[in-house]
Amino acid sequence: MDIPVFTVSATGARIPAIGLGTFGSDHVDPATVAEAVRFAIGAGYRHIDCAAVYGNEPQIGSVLRQVMAGQAGYPAVARQDLWITSKLWNDKHGEDDVVPAFLQSLNNLGLDYLDLYLVHWPFPNFHPPKCSVDSRSPNARPYIHEDFMKVWRKLEGLVDAGLVRHLGTSNMTEPKLSLVMRDARIKPSFNEMELHPHFQQPALVRFVKEIGLIPIGFSPLGSPGRPERDKTATDTVDMEDPILVRIAQAHKVHPAAICLKWAIANGHLPIPFSTSQRNIVANLQAVAEDPLTNQEKQDLDAIDRDCRLIKGQVFLWESARDWHDLWDEDGVIVQ
Ligand SMILES: NC(=O)c1ccc[n+]([C@@H]2O[C@H](COP(=O)([O-])OP(=O)(O)OC[C@H]3O[C@@H](n4cnc5c(N)ncnc54)[C@H](OP(=O)(O)O)[C@@H]3O)[C@@H](O)[C@H]2O)c1
Repeated sequence: MDIPVFTVSATGARIPAIGLGTFGSDHVDPATVAEAVRFAIGAGYRHIDCAAVYGNEPQIGSVLRQVMAGQAGYPAVARQDLWITSKLWNDKHGEDDVVPAFLQSLNNLGLDYLDLYLVHWPFPNFHPPKCSVDSRSPNARPYIHEDFMKVWRKLEGLVDAGLVRHLGTSNMTEPKLSLVMRDARIKPSFNEMELHPHFQQPALVRFVKEIGLIPIGFSPLGSPGRPERDKTATDTVDMEDPILVRIAQAHKVHPAAICLKWAIANGHLPIPFSTSQRNIVANLQAVAEDPLTNQEKQDLDAIDRDCRLIKGQVFLWESARDWHDLWDEDGVIVQ
């Protein structure tokens, strides 16, 4: 299969245009996710999207060691042929916490460098597992740029030390990203953001590309398995959209494949999660074969519902009005 690639402007590195997501959404256990990684690499995936908070990096690390040693049931895959991403969780933004958190992920994943390290959310705000979505942590606060840059300086040091090849942001907005681009010595090369046909974020995608970043699209299928805490009554279901279903029928594929073809047509890098062998292979085929026609792309561009699924309620600070405050919707950082 001919998997498309992106070239990173800052380094010339090539990254496969699809990655495997590894967030078990609180209900898929670490061993099952690790087994999906083992199968996916055997099927041709080379890019795995990990994070400390997903709680499965040690198990994925065991699989990666087997993969590189040729003990995963198929010929060895060399480290340089893999693209492994991880992310700094929100409770590790303290100046003395960033480097140990990175080293913990690196060690858990059994690697001596990462291809990409993202700041998972731009706030040091977090919530205990399984807390109510309405709870507000008294320590949570809005975005403070000086604090974010203290985190970023530590990450720049990790690049200098050869421990990570690229840096990136996640869940950012245009005004926040503008400040980071102004002040970073080593600029982000990627922004990971929610992207699917019912949540297209065209202005942010345009901005991200204009400043030379690659948009990694999370929840590219509309995250049907997301945790209950992330579901609300007004959420829509991308894969049931009649236009999307009609195009899927024309291509004789599952609607999931159309979500991925739409992502590729728009220059996104989707990272679908799956533990089903059939779906893992189908998702790879979706980005490699049988692209959308221009008309189909246009029809799908028109079904945007501006329906954010991962709203981030649990990261709100006490004085915030609601989750909209996390996303700077008026173009100004909400304080
Ligand atoms: N940076 C961030 O803040 C952030 C936030 C959320 C997610 N992420 C990343 O993005 C990844 C993907 O997002 P996500 O997990 O929320 O959702 P997603 O990839 O949109 O959806 C995953 C769900 O779709 C199903 N699925 C996958 N392929 C399918 C196919 N071909 N046909 C039918 N169903 C299919 C999966 O079930 P099966 O297992 O049965 O296939 C799973 O329930 C995460 O795993 C994580 O790595 C990052």
